[in-house]
Amino acid sequence: MLKVDPINPGKEVIDEAVEVLRKGGLVAFPTETVYGLGADSLNKDAVKRIYDVKGRPPDNPLILHISDLSELEVVARDVPSFVYELASKVWPGPVTFVLRKSDLVLPEVTAGLSTVAVRCPAHPVALTLIKGLGKPIAAPSANLSGRPSPTTADHVIKDLAGRIEMILDGGDTFFGVESTIINLTTDPPVLLRPGPVGVEDLEKLANLRILVPAFAKGLEEAGIALSPGTKYRHYSPQTTLILIEAGQCLTQATYLEYVKSLINEYLKKNFKVAVMCSRETCSEYENAISLEIGSKNNLYEVAKNLFKKLREIDELKVDVAVSESFEERGVGLAIMNRLRKASSKIISCVPHIKDRKLP
Ligand code: TXA
Ligand code: MG
Repeated sequence: MLKVDPINPGKEVIDEAVEVLRKGGLVAFPTETVYGLGADSLNKDAVKRIYDVKGRPPDNPLILHISDLSELEVVARDVPSFVYELASKVWPGPVTFVLRKSDLVLPEVTAGLSTVAVRCPAHPVALTLIKGLGKPIAAPSANLSGRPSPTTADHVIKDLAGRIEMILDGGDTFFGVESTIINLTTDPPVLLRPGPVGVEDLEKLANLRILVPAFAKGLEEAGIALSPGTKYRHYSPQTTLILIEAGQCLTQATYLEYVKSLINEYLKKNFKVAVMCSRETCSEYENAISLEIGSKNNLYEVAKNLFKKLREIDELKVDVAVSESFEERGVGLAIMNRLRKASSKIISCVPHIKDRKLP
């Protein structure tokens, strides 16, 4: 494990990591979203090893990371001009585009699909590493398959120690949830995974409508052809996690009462209970262990802490964990998608009729 300055990565460290990649080794490195597990995307054996060390199903393709928009034409073909316009506005940054793949891209990267997911990350370490290698880097998140994505080098060690050649420790990642993925091969384009850049913002930037299917909200599985990753359970703590959706509750107070009543039911059974809650509400849950994720008025803060808190649940050795839900706007959609996928059970808030605020 090598420490690296996240803003001005030292040349020596990057050179060492590039050398590992050139030899077919795997390097975990920070991006602005989560840590990635990188391989030389043109080295078939190295790419195959990514699947092995993560325990990743072979039909779940990887993202190609490029260091400049000009490299897009090397990995994708028939790219419409509006994609270049949109990419020039959001790259480098946490947005991934699914496009038709070029012949250069190995089938091991795309799990045999004719499309490829591409992004140009905004993290100086990631960018310098790709430039140093001089080729696109294939990288999924650097966690064991099914576990929450790593937002610190420590998370990577917990999952992958002894299985990979190098970890570049650049401290905490910036956003804490993975990139927004849009499939641009369909008309209209489809959101495959919500991320730090809200779908509303992308629509405005590109002046187009983006379809948001139920699976992108984490509500159901997608068919394999749409987004292979969505059919697997993700981000899950080993502890039973119950997400309480706020949908049916018309006021914050009613929602809070509902969460409290559910927690009390578990406490009556002598369960040890943890609750993932906002800064504003954590103090309300007296007999549960609270895991504060951030302010509900700052969803970027919640996103940044989410995976860390999901990992912490298991360390608490509780019988059950309950999570509050968050507003589904901007990065909030990414938060809710991850929470729904991480949960063993989703419960809708069902307030007593007299508590309802009448219109
Ligand atoms: O922020 C991120 O995107 C991070 C950092 C490391 O860049 N990467 C990441 O990769 O989250 P991963 O492998 O954990 O998630 C990639 C997702 C998977 O759900 C996969 O199914 C989907 O992208 N994907 C990759 N190629 C695809 C394709 N051709 N068509 C549809 N979905 C694709
Ligand atoms: Mg992943």
